[in-house]
Amino acid sequence: MRVLLLEGIHPDAVTILEAAGATVETVGRALDEPALIAALDGVQLLGIRSKTEVTEAVLAEAHDLLAIGAFSIGTNQIDLDAAGARGIAVFNAPFSNTRSVVDLALAEIIAMTRRLTQKNADMHAGVWDKSAEGAHEIRGRNLGIVGYGNIGAQLSVLAESLGMRVLFYDTEDKLALGNARRCDTLDDLLETADVVTLHVDGRRGNSGMFGAAQFARMRPGAIFLNLSRGFVVDHRALREHIVTGHLSGAAVDVFPHEPAGRGDEFVSELRGLPNVILTPHIGGSTEEAQHGIGRYVAGKLRDYCRHGSTAMSVNLPHLALPARPGGRRIAHLHRNVPGVLAKINSLLAEHKVNIDRQLLETRGEYGYVLTDVGVDYPPEVIGSLAGMEETVRVRLVG
Ligand code: NAI
Repeated sequence: MRVLLLEGIHPDAVTILEAAGATVETVGRALDEPALIAALDGVQLLGIRSKTEVTEAVLAEAHDLLAIGAFSIGTNQIDLDAAGARGIAVFNAPFSNTRSVVDLALAEIIAMTRRLTQKNADMHAGVWDKSAEGAHEIRGRNLGIVGYGNIGAQLSVLAESLGMRVLFYDTEDKLALGNARRCDTLDDLLETADVVTLHVDGRRGNSGMFGAAQFARMRPGAIFLNLSRGFVVDHRALREHIVTGHLSGAAVDVFPHEPAGRGDEFVSELRGLPNVILTPHIGGSTEEAQHGIGRYVAGKLRDYCRHGSTAMSVNLPHLALPARPGGRRIAHLHRNVPGVLAKINSLLAEHKVNIDRQLLETRGEYGYVLTDVGVDYPPEVIGSLAGMEETVRVRLVG
């Protein structure tokens, strides 16, 4: 098995894949389309972060590729439909940096509630101002979480353990953890919260969802955080509400336009404002998160190769069958139409292959079957399965 890991993926991923018997090549940067096509010749597994574009043109040439690991949360950089159509599984790391984002949000809530930004600036300017004015404990204050997904829910638990009262608003029905209270409307949350923090996902409909009307609804002196996506918030409106003093602080980690590289100028309406913490999209950037992402995604790639496991795949039906020593496993991905399982089993019967164990799962336009058979199966059965008109890909694993 040959693996290509791009963009400086954590060394733990290399260790895991090499331990599984793979030959791993690493490249510290992203590759453009022609370079990537050339580099994928003979490669079964590709690992990328956010800067490598895996386009339809790349996938059309990647004849040996079995799976792609996005060592990131997002998978926008991969043409998922084109990957699915070729039976290429895609995996990502949906929650390996959740805790890192939560840590940063909590640190910022405390820093702004104690006005540490101002105190720190004063001290560096030689000003000793030992006053309690405008500084509060976070205990007993209302935290309003907008978007109660992986990050929002984790923040809810930790904030409550620090004594905050948690409210949340989510467009989906979500289980309220601990003593958190669900709000039926965003306005209900905005009118009650001392701190409003956004953790919604990046779906298109969320563009500009938080603007002048929402800031106006927030309580006087409230604090605002956005560690989700930059395009969700109208920064001009945020600036106005900070300048007028309606909001007492803000922390922003994500921006509608982020500089392409290290050292490029950061341009924003929010620069130079008091009690505003600006960070360069580092919510999930910790060594622990990178380590977690490396281990998680490499493990998914290994298990897909070894056992055909698609658990938590981004684009294929989810299926995991425990390893069974002493047998072989046929992994069959097909178009999700009636009668495929019957056809597979008839073919196996025609070749006198006994089925030891079998599991089918479907998702959208694809169905996926794992079938465990004995080691003495006739090899031509794989060719027969590949020849079925519904077959997208068939592979022998285990
Ligand atoms: P998630 O998908 O688990 O949760 C998002 C939640 O927001 C879902 O429960 C969804 O129903 C809800 N939601 C979506 N639109 C909404 C709306 N308009 N109003 C109310 N609720 C809404 O996502 P996760 O993992 O918790 O991540 C949240 C955000 O954090 C994402 O945008 C992600 O890109 C971002 N993120 C930022 C990082 C950083 O470095 N700053 C690192 C990791 C994630």
